[in-house]
Amino acid sequence: MLVRITQNYDEMSRLAARIVANAARRKPDLRLGLATGETQIGMYKDLVRMRREEGLDFSRVLTFNLDEYVGLPAGHPQSLRSFMFRTFFDHVNVAAANIHIPDGSVRRNFGEYCAQYEEEIRQAGGIDLQILGIGKDGHIGFNEPTSSLVSRTRVKTLTRQTIEANRRDFAAGEEVPAAAITMGVGTILEARRILLLASGAAKSKAVARAVEGAVSAAATASALQMHGNTTLIVDREAAADLAHKDYYERAIEMTKRLTPERLE
Ligand code: GLP
Repeated sequence: MLVRITQNYDEMSRLAARIVANAARRKPDLRLGLATGETQIGMYKDLVRMRREEGLDFSRVLTFNLDEYVGLPAGHPQSLRSFMFRTFFDHVNVAAANIHIPDGSVRRNFGEYCAQYEEEIRQAGGIDLQILGIGKDGHIGFNEPTSSLVSRTRVKTLTRQTIEANRRDFAAGEEVPAAAITMGVGTILEARRILLLASGAAKSKAVARAVEGAVSAAATASALQMHGNTTLIVDREAAADLAHKDYYERAIEMTKRLTPERLE
């Protein structure tokens, strides 16, 4: 794992956007895995800016989102699909046919539907670059604690902590979804490259568990230790509980000198 510690949220966002943009320039038909959440907003903003100012081209990029709530009617403003359009897709030139977001309002068999989502990823040739955030308990996607580390796309029951964290996005008194469709940990681990972003003191324990804790379903982000090409970009507050910060900083300096392509 490469751990890049930034001064603040903005620097984290700019760095992440640059990595995504470089990947899309290198491979115009990039298969890009996307995540929702406040953490990602700055990165999307910067990508939108690059689209506007530099003509960054997404016309051949295929996107696959990690997750979606179950049970919200299509078009609900708090669906993760709505978040993605509001924050990113409405402002860039990803072709509508190239956007894949799990549909939490499907009426048919969820198992079949999730298997089909996996099949779409497979047929596209797999994900080149997967963006992730992290929950306070160390989850990725909606792979809550005790999720199998080889899990595939499926429906997950959300923990009370996650439901409460999501409540901020819903109107007072509105029912907050208690389940979601999410790519599995095994699905995520098949991405060729993974970029996990974390910002703020509330994430510092989760980041430490992911990077320095035991590999455990108790914090599914720790499974990233089993992935050979993962970069974490964390701001100083989110890095606060890491025991080996100095080592990570030296490792980044060394990587800049010896294998700079790993940072691009
Ligand atoms: C949810 C999402 C995750 C996200 C996490 C943190 O659980 N399913 O993908 O990483 O929230 O969100 P935020 O960035 O808003 O803190």
